[in-house]
Amino acid sequence: MATVIAVTNQKGGVGKTTTAINLAYFLAKAGKKTLLIDFDPQGNASSGLGIDKSTLTTTMTEVVIGSAPLAAAVVPTDHKNLWVAPTTSVLANTEVELAQADKKFSRLKQAIDVASDAYDYIIIDSPPSLSLLTVNGLIAAKYVLLPVQAEFYALEGLGQLLETMKLVRKAMNTGLELLGVLPTMLDSRTTLSTQVHEEIKRHFPGKVFDVTIPRNIRLAEAPSHGVPIGVYDKFSKGSRAYKALAKEVITRTEGGAA
Ligand SMILES: Nc1ncnc2c1ncn2[C@@H]1O[C@H](COP(=O)(O)OP(=O)(O)OP(=O)(O)O)[C@@H](O)[C@H]1O
Ligand SMILES: [Mg+2]
Repeated sequence: MATVIAVTNQKGGVGKTTTAINLAYFLAKAGKKTLLIDFDPQGNASSGLGIDKSTLTTTMTEVVIGSAPLAAAVVPTDHKNLWVAPTTSVLANTEVELAQADKKFSRLKQAIDVASDAYDYIIIDSPPSLSLLTVNGLIAAKYVLLPVQAEFYALEGLGQLLETMKLVRKAMNTGLELLGVLPTMLDSRTTLSTQVHEEIKRHFPGKVFDVTIPRNIRLAEAPSHGVPIGVYDKFSKGSRAYKALAKEVITRTEGGAA
């Protein structure tokens, strides 16, 4: 059974997709069979891995509608042990249709349950909202990985996400856990960044990853080349950070330290 991790924060632009892609890549590089599910209609995780979305016939849309199994949407990447289930903007319309449908919250879980044995890790990239899609991710996952951007309003709105997680736990997924809070885009030269990091640690005692992700232009450049940071510039600070994150994720999920 795969360990399913949803990368979630309803705030936009905090580094969810960057984290999903590069964590998935380094888990794969560590020998773990890894599937990255792009569950955001923006489709950034798909394009960030060099997927040409115009050629796709089966995507996460067909999977959540129930007309195709997850395996039919999965495509291999150029990287060993790494697969991706891509998404197009059509998923946004699907979400609206799904609102009327039966078992609308557990569509992703149902799809993953069938395919789960084929992977060690399944990483879900979520959209920037507490939408039906995000809730599907929370119900399908064992763990939430919460990227938090080291900026002034970092913690604002997180209460709402934690509340949603509580409701999900109560209603449908009792085992859901916060795997860890990941400070992203940290600039250790600025006092603000350092202060926010301290505040995040105070707010989530014991739950903040030891690894932090620095602000690193190479991380922002890599997606336009359709490759993870470990391929684009493996000696960059960003690459080293995500490699270390993968190691910490493996320890927290397999080593019982979570
Ligand atoms: N550590 C970093 N250093 C520099 N730039 C970064 C870093 N992490 C992410 N970025 C850039 O910041 C922007 C937002 O990142 P990303 O797309 O990963 O966030 P997101 O939370 O997935 O956004 P959305 O909510 O829209 O899905 C992107 O342009 C990305 O390349
Ligand atoms: Mg994103």
